[in-house]
Amino acid sequence: MSKLYMTGQKRLSGDVQLQGAKNSALPLLAATVLAQGESVLYNCPQLSDTEASLRILRWLGCGAERCDGVVIVKNDGIARHDIPDSFMRQTRGSVLFLGAVLAKQGRVRLSLPGGCEIGQRPIDMHLKALRRLGAVIKERHGWLDCRAPHGLKGADIALPFPSVGATEEVLLAACTAEGVTTLTNAAREPEISDLADYLNRCGACIRGAGESVIRIEGVRALRSCAHAVIPDRIVAATLIACAAVTGSSITVKGVIHSHLSAVLPVFEDAGCTFSAKENELHMTAPARLHSMKIVRTMPYPGFPTDAQSPLLAAAAVADGTTVLIENIFENRYRHVAELTRMGADIKTEGKFAVIDGVPQLYGAAVEATDLRGAAALVVAGLCAEGKTELDGVKYLDRGYEHFEQVLTSLGADIKRI
Ligand code: UD1
Repeated sequence: MSKLYMTGQKRLSGDVQLQGAKNSALPLLAATVLAQGESVLYNCPQLSDTEASLRILRWLGCGAERCDGVVIVKNDGIARHDIPDSFMRQTRGSVLFLGAVLAKQGRVRLSLPGGCEIGQRPIDMHLKALRRLGAVIKERHGWLDCRAPHGLKGADIALPFPSVGATEEVLLAACTAEGVTTLTNAAREPEISDLADYLNRCGACIRGAGESVIRIEGVRALRSCAHAVIPDRIVAATLIACAAVTGSSITVKGVIHSHLSAVLPVFEDAGCTFSAKENELHMTAPARLHSMKIVRTMPYPGFPTDAQSPLLAAAAVADGTTVLIENIFENRYRHVAELTRMGADIKTEGKFAVIDGVPQLYGAAVEATDLRGAAALVVAGLCAEGKTELDGVKYLDRGYEHFEQVLTSLGADIKRI
């Protein structure tokens, strides 16, 4: 079991290339099930979550190989319609194989997905939407047996909440269904648009991705294509938090600025300055951050829940009080107890966290229990006085590619042992 060891208070400088987005790569990998031939995904991050998806693809009968950031999926037909529980538990993104395999094979049997325990994370919206498309789904003992006895048929679907996963599930299931599907109250995250771009390039007919209403005209079949995964806006936000707490100046390359439109103003309120040039973002942090007042997480284009944890760690050392309101997941403050060990002054109650910034955190032995919580503890460790020992690094590896190497290249003192 590896741990990360950090000695804090090193100033960061230099530039860093942003990795591809985990939350795009996972639905894209599931989508390759639908595309006959050889799909090439560039900028596909090497993470435990993406490797878990590659294992599922191989199990289903595809060739799935990685050469650095390029993943090639050879799909000459899917051999099976079942996915073992051990594979499903490895990543939350596995739930998207439900819609993809169902659409391709007319049948799928799999267990409920794993992923970080940041809330209950039900999949009722996914199942309801698939049933609207004609799926017959039996749920028993944690397993789902789904069939489309008469094929999937386009339908009008209204989501009660703009769920990212449910929106992606509908795109995957409906793009080869018979007829037109209209999805209202769809999630608008950039990762949805990236999935739609890939599917359209494969021959699908999806209009309106990135907006609340998406229209999907079913086509008979998809053929493979080459596609570059969009950059990871959450990793960008995490790097910004790392630089913000260490009073640093860094440049993040390969950024899509519009994807950070809710994140940058919050760090600007805290005293950071940003300058944008093409796909580069240069930032300079003040010697000490100001508090961020009130920040609410919301579906895109609001402030992303995934960036809330690193932001909370930054607020812990800001001058003044910050209030965070977590509106998406009900259990996203699990790392607060660990930050408290480091000297943070944070109180939580339900969706609220009140953070009274302290002048200084102190290194401690801490343990991560989810992906973004792990990132928050790295942010804290980088600015703390003394040594921090971070356990639970496997959570970080779900979403951050070679993160300690990236931070070392910027001048941080961080090692994996
Ligand atoms: C995705 C992201 C995750 C991000 C989240 C919100 C991936 C692999 N993960 O997760 O990093 O934090 O979007 O931006 O892309 N819900 C239900 N029933 C459902 C589906 C969702 O009640 O059927 C609830 C969830 O419990 C949660 C809210 O809806 O409270 C939003 O979830 P959703 O947008 O679906 O998140 P994920 O797709 O799981």
